[in-house]
Amino acid sequence: MGGDSLSSHAHVIGWGKYLPQRVLKNGELSELVDTSDEWIRTRTGIRERHLVEDGETTADMAVQAARQALEVAHFNPTQVELIIVATVTPDHLFPSTACLVQDMLGATRAAAFDLSAGCTGFIYGLSVAANMLLSGAYRSALVIGAETLSSITDWTDRATCVLFGDGAGAVVLQSGENEGGVLASSLGSDGSGGDLLWLPAGGSRIPTSQRTLDERLHFIQMKGREVFRFAVKVMHDATCEVLEKAGHALGDLTLLIPHQANQRIIEAAARSLDLSPEMVYSNVEWYGNTSAASIPIALSEAAEKGRIQTGDLVVCVGFGAGLTWGAAAIRWTRPQPMLAPLRRRIVRRLYYSLARIRSRFRRLIRWLSAFGIKDGLNGGRRSKE
Ligand code: ACO
Repeated sequence: MGGDSLSSHAHVIGWGKYLPQRVLKNGELSELVDTSDEWIRTRTGIRERHLVEDGETTADMAVQAARQALEVAHFNPTQVELIIVATVTPDHLFPSTACLVQDMLGATRAAAFDLSAGCTGFIYGLSVAANMLLSGAYRSALVIGAETLSSITDWTDRATCVLFGDGAGAVVLQSGENEGGVLASSLGSDGSGGDLLWLPAGGSRIPTSQRTLDERLHFIQMKGREVFRFAVKVMHDATCEVLEKAGHALGDLTLLIPHQANQRIIEAAARSLDLSPEMVYSNVEWYGNTSAASIPIALSEAAEKGRIQTGDLVVCVGFGAGLTWGAAAIRWTRPQPMLAPLRRRIVRRLYYSLARIRSRFRRLIRWLSAFGIKDGLNGGRRSKE
């Protein structure tokens, strides 16, 4: 934890992304369901998406993205004080994916929790983390969006299975006195639209049973047209609201990074904001909709490609299940990173190997001490006999 004294700014000092190796092209989907490359491209703009290999999980991808973000930030895992993982596809309902990430990174001083706000999860996470830094409670945070949507996609439903992909993106935030960083955020929700986009079973309302499996209730269900209309409206409104909160106008904006759900939604939002295509970042063509991961993946990619420079004003805006929406205005303060010296990179790689050993060692100690307690209890019982 930090020093509990108010800080003035929360800067983005590192960024990273991870897409799994396996690529699924539209043509392959047309062998699974009654669809075509032409339909998918014209209605969504998507050409291909990345999917996890068997055994690869949300936490695994989150760790890869986080490592890259730490590398850019020139940060050691032990300097991270807070980890937030935004996801609707956690490895387990509990423990949180953030705790798994904390352990795999060896971020021994970090608090960690998951955040569920659908595709808006990363914006919610960024806002929470930035405000925790501004309060002075923490000095650094890792905010990750990571999803294995392929695990909740109904591969027999052509209306949804063409849309989604897997991946992760991450940023490192650090508090500082110099101007810039996350200038403002604006979040919203409307639970009355919860059934427009949902995963019906597996929670306390409809627990898992043979019936829920037979009725395919563990997969994403969506009313696409209604989500589309909602998306275009909130992307416009949230962008204008966050700029106003930050004391800026649309004319000050350098780059809009929207949630990557559908190229038609991105273009409609750009039109309604009167922004030229060059001012709106899009990569939905290559990754599909990766939910909470889509904005940090796009942000990292834009930074890597030099589309964001020091001094630029960037707005990230998203919408998703809940219904939720949100936007964050960021004044970019980090110059293009220099590659860390080889020695430092080797040390960090060694540290990650040590983190694995540390984790196993802690499990062993816990196992041994549990043995001790059990023996004590047995001993107690025996002595009564
Ligand atoms: N291939 C071929 N035909 C299809 C497919 C497909 N993959 N999917 C639907 N169709 C058909 C429909 O059956 C329908 O046929 P009909 O006219 O004979 O009934 C026709 O195409 C038109 O269907 P619509 O649903 O009206 O198509 P639309 O143009 O609205 O596009 C889409 C559908 C792409 C889903 C669009 O509505 C959309 O992008 N909505 C928003 C989705 C979104 O952003 N979701 C966010 C999820 S984020 C999260 O939290 C996980």
